[in-house]
Amino acid sequence: MAAFEGPEYGEIEHTIPTDDARVARLSDMFRKGVSGGVVLDLGCGDGRAVDLIRSTGASYVGIDIEQSPEVASRTRSDEHFLTYDGIELPFDQGHFDAIYSNQVFEHVRHPDSLLQEIYRVLKPGGTFVAALSYLGRKLIN
Ligand SMILES: C[S@@+](CC[C@H](N)C(=O)[O-])C[C@H]1O[C@@H](n2cnc3c(N)ncnc32)[C@H](O)[C@@H]1O
Repeated sequence: MAAFEGPEYGEIEHTIPTDDARVARLSDMFRKGVSGGVVLDLGCGDGRAVDLIRSTGASYVGIDIEQSPEVASRTRSDEHFLTYDGIELPFDQGHFDAIYSNQVFEHVRHPDSLLQEIYRVLKPGGTFVAALSYLGRKLIN
């Protein structure tokens, strides 16, 4: 493989805009907005958010769909991981203090229904923190 022959960072630094919209990291937003309580990791996959969620003092519950390669690849078993049909969350109204969801909504078949479910299972005033790469949605008929 040929060695990288691009410029050093110092040579291009002046070309990088400083007026960007400031990328926010989901983990930072989560730590700022959540302390303790019961947190749902929606679309938990292999469970990589367990330590982040525990670090806020919260109790962790992870949920995902059954037919998921990420779930199949999970090796950790030190937490409460559930599966569901992808639409109806199997929890009572107002069960969670916060819901965390990383890179999930772009994969969800029925995002509107799931959002209603999120609203239902969150306590009034609870926090929903999510990040996604893209989501095409028709806003005007
Ligand atoms: C890109 S992975 C992200 C996994 C994990 N959140 C992470 O940060 O590594 C997308 C996840 O969304 C899950 N998923 C897809 N549809 C879902 C649904 N309706 N409800 C919950 N999770 C869903 C997939 O099974 C998969 O685990």
